[in-house]
Amino acid sequence: MKQSFFYGLVLTSIMSLSLIGCTKKNAGTTGAETQSSDDSILVGEVGSLTGPEATFGISTNKGIKLAFKEINDAGGINGKKLELITLDDQGKPEEAATAVTKLITQNKVSAILGEVASGRSLAMAPISQQNKVPMITPSSTNPKVTAVGDYIFRVCFIDPFQGTVMAKFAHDTLKAKKVAVLRDVKNDYSVGLADFFIETYKKLGGEIILDKSYSAGDIDFKSQLTAIRAKHPDAIFVPGYYTDVGLIARQARELGIKAPLLGGDGWDSPKLQEIGGKAVNGSYFSNHYSAEDKSPHVQSFIARFKAMNNEIPDGLAAMGYDAAMVLAASMKSAKSLSGPDIKEAIAAVRNYQGVTGNISIDADRNAIKSAVVLKVENGAFKYQTTINP
Ligand code: PHE
Repeated sequence: MKQSFFYGLVLTSIMSLSLIGCTKKNAGTTGAETQSSDDSILVGEVGSLTGPEATFGISTNKGIKLAFKEINDAGGINGKKLELITLDDQGKPEEAATAVTKLITQNKVSAILGEVASGRSLAMAPISQQNKVPMITPSSTNPKVTAVGDYIFRVCFIDPFQGTVMAKFAHDTLKAKKVAVLRDVKNDYSVGLADFFIETYKKLGGEIILDKSYSAGDIDFKSQLTAIRAKHPDAIFVPGYYTDVGLIARQARELGIKAPLLGGDGWDSPKLQEIGGKAVNGSYFSNHYSAEDKSPHVQSFIARFKAMNNEIPDGLAAMGYDAAMVLAASMKSAKSLSGPDIKEAIAAVRNYQGVTGNISIDADRNAIKSAVVLKVENGAFKYQTTINP
């Protein structure tokens, strides 16, 4: 039921997306053999363009496309144009694995961008690693993703940091003494982030009064929320993805729970407030970027993105853009466009000025970056604070 409700919501997006993948050679949709050539470099993207996390894939794709356009307009990679093939995984790990296999074995892409969700990046990473095709996830934050091997990179922070950010925010800023947790047990990201949050929050002296779970795609959260209500928490940490969180917020308010909900980057979607309505107002989440950041670098990106897409970029779009730019810069500096050489170049990235902050790839192939905390307020995500690593 929830699924069809959701697919209804994204129908328009799906229709406009049917054009994606219809590159000149149509490799994404027909499976025709395509590979990097004398005048082009093929890059594969795997994302959730449909399904319950469709905005993750759609936004990321827009960010990547803007980056590729800017790079190609400026002459490409040492004269070669970047060409993108995007495959939809519908938000399913099995589909993500199939898609990356196809991109590598049939399309012979030089590198992979994606996925957003850690669970899907974890399904893809062993395949990239085995085939020596470098993969950069823009925004998968679970530590296990890059631990898969030396071909797997990310341009975002990881969840031990993100969990700490929200634990400190709950304890120091909100002065919450008792917090309940509601995690998605089907989601590697959610499970990890819940654990990291709890670890720090307890260290700070806070009390976790209840740790409840649900499974992605559930539509009724009343029993967990009723148990949580009985414990009178000062805040509830819900590190899930936006569709579930929107429904959870609604049901929490229906049950009379007034405590603010707290979450992580998985909340970042324009759909959060569409699904959650007023129920998500007054909640807080950690994220990679704020559109309210006044720095000229960010505001210029927003203006260029708006000119292309007629909308304000969310965090995913900014991360997709940064991931694509880091890949392009690495390809420019690589000794050759072989997998091993591109991998070496990505590993050597230091102080790249991204839209989402300064990106240096560390020894574990992660980026050490600051996080922002945003407040959900009547249709907007209001910047609260920046927290440095
Ligand atoms: N960090 C999330 C994960 O690893 C994905 C995500 C990133 C979602 C940024 C929204 C915004 O699963």
